[in-house]
Amino acid sequence: MFKIIARLPRRWNSQSASKVPPVRRISLLSTLFVSASLATAGYFIGKREITKNPPEDLFPWSSTTNLEKIGSPIYATDEELKVAVEDIKNAVGEDHVKESVVEITAHSDNGFTPHPPKPHEKPRYVVYAFSTEEVSSIMKIAHKYNVPVVPYSGGSSLEGHTFSTRCGIVLDTSRMNKVLRINHDDLDATVQAGVGWMDLNEHLTNEKLMFGCDCGPSGLIGGMVNTNASGVNASRYGAMVHNVVSLTVVLADGTIIKTRQRPRKTSSGYNLTGLFIGSEGTLGIVTEATVRLHVKPSHETVAVGQFPSVTAASKTVAELFRKGIRPEAIELLDEDMMHCTNYSGQLTKKWLEVPTIFFKVGGHNKVVVDETLQIIKKVSLENKCADFIIAKNKNEGEELFQARKNAFFSILDYGKNEIDENVRLWVTDIAVPLSKLPKVVDEIRALIDRSGFKSVILGHVGDGNLHADLFYTPDQLHECHKVINEITMIGLRNEGTASGEHGIGNGKRTFLAYELGQEAVDTMRKLKLALDPKRILNPDKIFKIDPQDRGEF
Ligand SMILES: Cc1cc2nc3c(=O)[nH]c(=O)nc-3n(C[C@H](O)[C@H](O)[C@H](O)COP(=O)(O)OP(=O)(O)OC[C@H]3O[C@@H](n4cnc5c(N)ncnc54)[C@H](O)[C@@H]3O)c2cc1C
Ligand SMILES: *[C@@H]1O[C@H](CO)[C@@H](O)[C@H](O)[C@H]1NC(C)=O
Ligand SMILES: *[C@@H]1O[C@H](CO)[C@@H](O)[C@H](O)[C@H]1NC(C)=O
Ligand SMILES: *[C@@H]1O[C@H](CO)[C@@H](O)[C@H](O)[C@H]1NC(C)=O
Ligand SMILES: *[C@@H]1O[C@H](CO)[C@@H](O)[C@H](O)[C@H]1NC(C)=O
Repeated sequence: MFKIIARLPRRWNSQSASKVPPVRRISLLSTLFVSASLATAGYFIGKREITKNPPEDLFPWSSTTNLEKIGSPIYATDEELKVAVEDIKNAVGEDHVKESVVEITAHSDNGFTPHPPKPHEKPRYVVYAFSTEEVSSIMKIAHKYNVPVVPYSGGSSLEGHTFSTRCGIVLDTSRMNKVLRINHDDLDATVQAGVGWMDLNEHLTNEKLMFGCDCGPSGLIGGMVNTNASGVNASRYGAMVHNVVSLTVVLADGTIIKTRQRPRKTSSGYNLTGLFIGSEGTLGIVTEATVRLHVKPSHETVAVGQFPSVTAASKTVAELFRKGIRPEAIELLDEDMMHCTNYSGQLTKKWLEVPTIFFKVGGHNKVVVDETLQIIKKVSLENKCADFIIAKNKNEGEELFQARKNAFFSILDYGKNEIDENVRLWVTDIAVPLSKLPKVVDEIRALIDRSGFKSVILGHVGDGNLHADLFYTPDQLHECHKVINEITMIGLRNEGTASGEHGIGNGKRTFLAYELGQEAVDTMRKLKLALDPKRILNPDKIFKIDPQDRGEF
């Protein structure tokens, strides 16, 4: 037997309303009484009567929603889930619904997060959608039966974003992978959510166009929209937020909306496009996106500067920006990272193992590119750069950049061979204002040196975004976590963010309140409840939605 949490109706008097206890547990006897009197508002889920779902107190007379003021969400029981899945099979076809061990395992954990899901935290079903209408049918059913839904694209997110913390389904949009339209004159493209950033670029090569964002190699547009992804090209072309014109989104109850037409500028109404960007699948399912395209620079070169210190390297970047120079990419690799890269044997040239910046410089002709390179070289040398090398040809440039894109795997390779077979990497993702970067790097270095952990630091320095990553073995998890938290706090103390590009998932929730303040988090929760009152979309991510949730990572 279970207790039902019911709420007493509020009086239309704000003074007394504030005195009404927010949650009152009542006995079964009075439950019958209350539910009888609220019969018109109530309905049944299976055999349980829910007087109101969502209960009235999810929408109190306040602009924000504090976690302590709401009850726990009520989700489908195993039986209800089975009924819902039968409905889904009828709606989209039996072969779109998978429950094999292989599918479930593949959608449970990608192994990147230091806090793996608990054994019961796995999806019960994986549902593949092939169109916006199918997503809508699936969400209507999920909404009706209170089924938790975890949206899923490439599965490369790093903070437990796609963990099934509740018993429900994973809705996989990766097979919606058509490029629908390319508007050459407008420099935009409309694609389905399952198109990969690499595939889109492949598609655009002959047109001399490109998409400005990148992330992990397997990232797809739907996931990238939802983490506000940005990679090596962000200092020039921006993050996802700067590259999305309009989205087609299916809301929690199956409603389909389009956030905009395709104008470059607009002042009509709320910016719903922006609302969904970085929302980590908690507000709606993205099914299509119109994204900006960029003209590929006709000339492009890579240059590498090797510096005596990270401070010298970041001072160089700050000075370049002040001179109005905006390279396409500015990637910093510290001495440890250079050691891993060298170790991996991916580079034919052997580099000094010192802090190094890879610059990518583009322009519409060679003269412009060369001029820019000379300025970068001059500023670098003024900052005691020991070795400034300009790639001799396209291949050499590509090799250099490939090494950066493969950094993650070189690091793991090095760690497994040289530290411990079971070594793992804990990735941080702070971003700070550029002017604070040298100080922040110094503080982090000192902290890591004191801790005794081995590490690598690499970063999209153009954006002040740093990945200080620590190697740890499973028995050091707790110790490592402390250092990781401290690194993040250094970022926050320096007017920075806990996550420059990876997102919060369920791994970094605690930092959100430190960064933005409890009221801002409560405002997000209010928006969440407005759009998804049953709390079925990607539960427990970004911030808590259940006062019973004790999970801290
Ligand atoms: C080696 C490696 C390198 C990386 N480098 C970078 C980098 O340079 N920059 C960077 O930003 N990130 C990087 N990442 C992280 C990752 O690639 C990005 O977070 C990426 O945006 C995730 O995309 P995905 O398609 O894999 O999304 P998923 O992991 O499938 O999902 C990400 C989030 O979006 C939600 N979601 C997925 N699809 C939808 C949909 N259709 N509608 C609504 N919500 C949805 C999910 O629920 C989840 O919350 C890297 C990861 C790896 C493994
Ligand atoms: C970044 O931009 C350049 C053009 O400046 C392009 O050649 C490259 O493919 C883009 N993406 C990545 C991941 O480097
Ligand atoms: C997305 O990232 C960019 C830069 O990385 C940032 O300026 C922007 O505020 C972010 N937007 C959202 C919605 O998170
Ligand atoms: C709305 O958000 C989108 C995506 O983040 C952004 O590209 C656009 O410039 C924003 N528009 C306005 C009017 O703020
Ligand atoms: C680079 O790595 C090789 C081994 O892979 C090593 O012999 C060499 O000394 C390293 N270079 C530097 C500068 O340390």
